[in-house]
Amino acid sequence: MNNIDMEVLYQKAQIAAQAAYVPYSHFRVGAALLGDDNKVYTGCNVENRSYGLTICAERTAVTKAVSEGCRSFKALAIATPDSAVPVGPCGACRQVLSEFMPLQANVRFGGRTPERVDTTIGELIPFDSLHDLGKA
Ligand code: THU
Repeated sequence: MNNIDMEVLYQKAQIAAQAAYVPYSHFRVGAALLGDDNKVYTGCNVENRSYGLTICAERTAVTKAVSEGCRSFKALAIATPDSAVPVGPCGACRQVLSEFMPLQANVRFGGRTPERVDTTIGELIPFDSLHDLGKA
């Protein structure tokens, strides 16, 4: 997957959402990250009866990728098939995604309707002055 086809990435997020473990919220989320290695890393939300230990789909995908050696991503898609409106990443996930993505990286998210939101990491986490802290 060399050229960034956001709809193809979005379809992978939709498939990832099917694995969501959501006995408490019944709100499935799927995420698909396109790595700089041109591999796609997917994730779903994994809930817990303690509620606070729930892991969002986006951070599942980031953790899978980094643990497999990919630390930089070109694009992200998020699918929330149980939502009538597109749902963007939570604040915690925006911070974690920003750690591994350039500000201009494309992000697409959508719910169960054909409506899609196309944005960038920089728009999702503005005034991120320390974005490149720690980067060589
Ligand atoms: N959730 C995500 O996986 N990603 C988001 O960006 C928003 C929220 C999950 C957490 C919880 O399992 C469910 O959606 C409802 O908040």
